[in-house]
Amino acid sequence: MNPLFTHPMGVGTWAWGDRLFWGYGRGYREEDLKQAFRESLEAGVSLFDTAEFYGFGLSETLLGRFMAQSGARPYLVTKFFPYPWRLSRKSLLQALRGSLRRLGVEAVDLYLLHWPWPPVPLRVWAEALAEAYERGLARGVGVSNCSLAQLAEAKAVLDRHGVPLLANQVEYSLLVRDWEAHLPTLRREGIALMAYSPLAMGWLTGKLDPRNPPKGYRGSKYRPHLGRLERLLPLLEELARAKGTSPGAIALRYLMEKGTLPIPGAKNPAQVRGNAEALRLSLGPEEMALLEGAS
Ligand SMILES: NC(=O)c1ccc[n+]([C@@H]2O[C@H](COP(=O)([O-])OP(=O)(O)OC[C@H]3O[C@@H](n4cnc5c(N)ncnc54)[C@H](OP(=O)(O)O)[C@@H]3O)[C@@H](O)[C@H]2O)c1
Repeated sequence: MNPLFTHPMGVGTWAWGDRLFWGYGRGYREEDLKQAFRESLEAGVSLFDTAEFYGFGLSETLLGRFMAQSGARPYLVTKFFPYPWRLSRKSLLQALRGSLRRLGVEAVDLYLLHWPWPPVPLRVWAEALAEAYERGLARGVGVSNCSLAQLAEAKAVLDRHGVPLLANQVEYSLLVRDWEAHLPTLRREGIALMAYSPLAMGWLTGKLDPRNPPKGYRGSKYRPHLGRLERLLPLLEELARAKGTSPGAIALRYLMEKGTLPIPGAKNPAQVRGNAEALRLSLGPEEMALLEGAS
């Protein structure tokens, strides 16, 4: 069985050490992240999603440090970034060894191709992923940001090696539901959908005002969705009130009810605790239909 199906939720660590986009060092620091790490294990969330790209390695380094300090060994997902100067499959194995060093482990549980970008054809990276698996450097492999056709292409290569393709990590939230129609296909193939930006980068927590969007990427990326947010947020708030939780936890539970694995990013223990509330919730068919309608 795909081990990802045993993890209802993970923690995203893009913000761990990332100064450029998330502002690491201003408003949150290493101690907040260390507590977030501990809090998530206590809350029963034991999958961490990182990437060599996040904080240019610092996310992996911090995760490695917290594991060493605590003795905990959660399920680790990291990713290979196909920088344009990486042209051969050997570069994937080298990059993976760098990730293993920063994380302080001999193998990761899941190694993903971060983006299926040219110039190197996807099949070359899929061959390299198979090799990482065969060498025991990754206990599982998968892809991220792949279309259905790209997924099939990567799977065909891995199938030839007898290596299962465990995941496609894609953007999926109540605001971006493009993948929903394909969930039964993925399930049939035994592939987990890891849902990134499941809180729409914070919008679905209700903390940002659609009528006064923040400057920068968070504002511009979700500009086309602001009208729908004005309909959706009051419903999330109403359901959250009725269930004694937060809008964000409802938004995450929606993705879990769909059989996907959300990996909400968190910068401190309070955010981890809030997101983990989704584990104890349930949403009935009528509530799911209401959310689908409003989104
Ligand atoms: N494969 C890929 O290409 C890809 C792309 C993007 C992300 N990812 C992965 O997916 C993870 C999650 O995506 P994401 O970070 O883009 O977006 P997200 O999970 O939708 O939003 C995360 C942000 O929302 C805010 N937040 C989280 N929990 C909260 C809570 N309980 N209450 C209030 N605010 C809360 C925090 O930001 P503030 O405190 O600043 O508001 C946090 O950094 C990433 O960390 C990364 O691991 C992968």
